[in-house]
Amino acid sequence: MLMMDLRDYSLLTADELINRIQRAKKAKNAVLLVHNYQRREIQGIADFLGDSLGLSQEAARTDADLIVFCGVHFMAETAKILNPCKTVLIPDLRAGCPMADMINAESLASAKAQHPDAVVVTYINSTAEVKALSDICCTSTNAVKVVRSVGNRPILFTPDRNLAEYCRQQTGADIIPWAGFCYVHNEFRTSDVDTALQEHPGALFIAHPECRAEVLTMADQILSTTGMAKYVRDHIEEIKLRGVIIGTEIGLIEQLQSDLPGVPIFPLTASALCATQKLTTLAKVAWCMETGSNEIILDEQIRKLAFSAVKRMIEIS
Ligand code: 13P
Ligand code: SF4
Repeated sequence: MLMMDLRDYSLLTADELINRIQRAKKAKNAVLLVHNYQRREIQGIADFLGDSLGLSQEAARTDADLIVFCGVHFMAETAKILNPCKTVLIPDLRAGCPMADMINAESLASAKAQHPDAVVVTYINSTAEVKALSDICCTSTNAVKVVRSVGNRPILFTPDRNLAEYCRQQTGADIIPWAGFCYVHNEFRTSDVDTALQEHPGALFIAHPECRAEVLTMADQILSTTGMAKYVRDHIEEIKLRGVIIGTEIGLIEQLQSDLPGVPIFPLTASALCATQKLTTLAKVAWCMETGSNEIILDEQIRKLAFSAVKRMIEIS
């Protein structure tokens, strides 16, 4: 049989692609890990749908032979860091996280030389090379806990300045922030919150900790993506009465709106879209699974060092 290329897959219907994905999953003992910001149809084929922490924990415990990571590159890399003997595929190698690219090994090494006493806490939204030079990783779920675990030493917190500031406010720790940011969450302004609250008076406002400090000050809750989903479900009766405005990427909000029809769930702004998260399509998933394309490969020395930083985080989560 002739090997199909990606264009051939794009001509198939969604049902045909899903059948192929299910067949490949069985044949290859694969697991599909999917981030909350992925397109709805990709969320629909997930074996596990979640935030960065949940996906890392799932990657650490899976007994599948093949991990297909529908998210962005650092997430698939983290799965490989945790599973050196398994094959990890990402449906589109161009699916990066612009914030993760705001720091590299060279720039971190020179910051470490300037702050030799600092503990390096690195957000999971980072490359394996940057994790390898870090003492411990964190996610949006556990960043405050990780910072508290460090004790009284100064912390070089990379790469998200907004998450760094949030942790500083929560803990009072001596934090030297990197200047990175998420272009999706950093775009939210207090005027967006004012406008949304005028449109939906009395609504709760929940926000992701990648938002600016002045936006977070206005939030009733500051949570990871899965934390937000859980909060909405746990407070459903209150939210049915008051409504909820959610300050994060649209994928998580669409997930909740379709799972909870009729519940007044509103995006802070409808334009909050992470372009690289949307690169994953059913055609690319079927193609990479059937052809084994787009494997994540890491240098073993870097992987081992990065593993220590990720493992430390998982141990305290
Ligand atoms: P979560 O871990 O909260 O899902 O966040 C990941 C991310 O990239 C947010 O922009
Ligand atoms: Fe990166 Fe922001 Fe996209 Fe999350 S939403 S993957 S932090 S660019």
